[in-house]
Amino acid sequence: MKAESTHEATLREEIKQAAARIQQGDVVAFETETVYGLGASAWDADAIRKVFALKGRPADNPLIVHVSHPDEISQFAADIPERAVLLINHFWPGPLTVILPKKPAVLDILTGGLDTVALRMPAHPLALAFLEESGPLVAPSANRSGRPSPTTREHVLEDLGPEVMVLGRGACSYGLESTVLDLSASSPILCRPGHLSMEDFSTVLGEPILSMTHAKDGQAPRSPGMKYTHYSPDATVSWASSDVTPPPRSLWLVHSDIPTKIAEGVEVIDYAGDFRKMARELYDRFRQADHEARPVVLIEPLPSGPRDGVLAALANRINKAVGA
Ligand code: TXA
Ligand code: MG
Repeated sequence: MKAESTHEATLREEIKQAAARIQQGDVVAFETETVYGLGASAWDADAIRKVFALKGRPADNPLIVHVSHPDEISQFAADIPERAVLLINHFWPGPLTVILPKKPAVLDILTGGLDTVALRMPAHPLALAFLEESGPLVAPSANRSGRPSPTTREHVLEDLGPEVMVLGRGACSYGLESTVLDLSASSPILCRPGHLSMEDFSTVLGEPILSMTHAKDGQAPRSPGMKYTHYSPDATVSWASSDVTPPPRSLWLVHSDIPTKIAEGVEVIDYAGDFRKMARELYDRFRQADHEARPVVLIEPLPSGPRDGVLAALANRINKAVGA
């Protein structure tokens, strides 16, 4: 019991120090249930500039504002439509980011000049405790742009260096970034699939969710981030079914079909149908391949047919890494 309370006191102290850094215009990385984020005050343009610089992030790729309570979104959103209220009531705190029309006071650097703002209330208790202390924070994934998102403290330090303060010690429970849903248009539009199911969103709203790919030709990309290369290790990532002959030293992620032709030095990881575990470990496996100087990561094609939730998110991230 005593060890527990000492731990809690240390954590409280760490959160206080982290919030003080934010107030001084510094950045702090923190654990969430999806991936680690790189936090800076949502009202501090200089601190937000540091975030873009540390990540090497293109200026036209907007950030998500993270809040500790749904009430805080009225500081940022000019209009909160009924469907946003319904989704927030059902899915917050959690891995859902909603895009709403922004208030004029929201910094342009935060939204990449768009007239909308992305908002999320994370579920991780440490993230919530930090946000309560610090106030609303922008928090992109705490990786260098183009690298796989960080799902452990070590990943953050590897990409951003030892000077960045990191709150959290654990491995993220989802391991893939939040679902991004644009609620600023006449129909809800999915910009980035995550663990949550589109079917659940439709049921709550009583209307269909359009996919980004259904957006009309000639429209600006709904989520600027999706046009950049993402989530890639240095290793080449390819889809591969069990009948291929793998290059030597490949890392091969499978979920149902164990390959028989194993070349020298090939490591096979079998997820045995556990796609949540595969999602949780995917980015760590990408980084493992680079640490072990493996030239290739092979991934068994995902089950075909309509995909929702974790399968849609996995397909999206792996396709990006493959460059498809
Ligand atoms: O799970 C997550 O969402 C993590 C954790 C840390 O919360 N954060 C995260 O942030 O993934 P980031 O910056 O890596 O991805 C944000 C995505 C980008 O694809 C960006 O283009 C999109 O959200 N986005 C942000 N604001 C937007 C807006 N106003 N309109 C459309 N897309 C927007
Ligand atoms: Mg990111």
